[in-house]
Amino acid sequence: MKAELEAIKTEALQALKEIETLDALESLRITYFGRRGKLTDVMKGMGKLSKEERPAMGKLSNEVRATLTEAFEDLTEKLQSQQREQQLETEAIDITLPGRKPAYGKAHPVMQIMERIEAIFGQMGFEVVTGPDVETEYYNFDALNTPSDHPARDLHDTFYLTDGHLLRTHTSPVQIRTMENQQPPVRIIVPGKCYRVDYDVSHTPMFHQVEGLLVDKHATFSELKGILTSFARQMFGDQTQMRFRPHYFPFTEPSAEVDISCAVCQGKGCRSCGNTGWVEILGAGAVDPAVFEAVNYDPDEVTGFAFGMGVERIANLQFSIPDIRTFYENDLRFLRQF
Ligand code: DAH
Repeated sequence: MKAELEAIKTEALQALKEIETLDALESLRITYFGRRGKLTDVMKGMGKLSKEERPAMGKLSNEVRATLTEAFEDLTEKLQSQQREQQLETEAIDITLPGRKPAYGKAHPVMQIMERIEAIFGQMGFEVVTGPDVETEYYNFDALNTPSDHPARDLHDTFYLTDGHLLRTHTSPVQIRTMENQQPPVRIIVPGKCYRVDYDVSHTPMFHQVEGLLVDKHATFSELKGILTSFARQMFGDQTQMRFRPHYFPFTEPSAEVDISCAVCQGKGCRSCGNTGWVEILGAGAVDPAVFEAVNYDPDEVTGFAFGMGVERIANLQFSIPDIRTFYENDLRFLRQF
């Protein structure tokens, strides 16, 4: 038995020298230490030994077992670390490669302009309020002194829905909604989407307006002029000139269209302004007494001024875009420029 143990030891240590993989090592381990392994077999024979022989053989077999176990463990460790190194080499990451930049989003150009407009009026004490896109004929027209037989209705190219509903053609209905729920003084702006059946280089079926309304005991036209001039200079530059042209809106009397001096040619006349030196930016006027009556305000007690501007138009004056429909084509190459 002694010879047998010695032979197993020599043979196993020799075999270990040839092992190159963890798989091969595992099957060699089974050959010696497995349930039917060579070393296991010898140990099983221990029972047949005489009492005198047993302690010496026990000691020797433990020694052989310890030596081999250690040899197996050492090789396991060595092969594992080799394997890890190989893996690190093949899976190596080149940290000198440039990274992939995350694509940042930002506000749509029309929203950027809208936020500017809100900031400028906010600073002048105007509160932002909003109203629904789906309106009734009453708020969009009737309460704004535009009854159904009124010729101004034809100009609006309205998207009609059922049951007297429609997509609002302007943000003016929010004037009515606000005054119904609030006593003067009122000083609001209303940013929002509007809809008209219209589609060409300067019109999209959905567009944005910012409405303004100012009602007080003694609101004056000069106050309106001051506010709008301040707005235009902050938006388009200190040199901007303003011109009020008489116009007609059903809900204001008197009414005006407001032009600013063309920023491209400084008023000299160019293609942008059709050689007039002026570009129209908004409609405005003194609130018509009929509108006050619709919301139970007493026209003898209060005066009011209102204005409304197209945001795409203002954005276009800032950015000079030949066709405003491109704002809504979702082409990132276009949108990323702003
Ligand atoms: N609602 C008008 C439009 O869409 C714009 C407008 C003009 C609004 C004069 C006003 C105003 O408040 O006073 O054409």
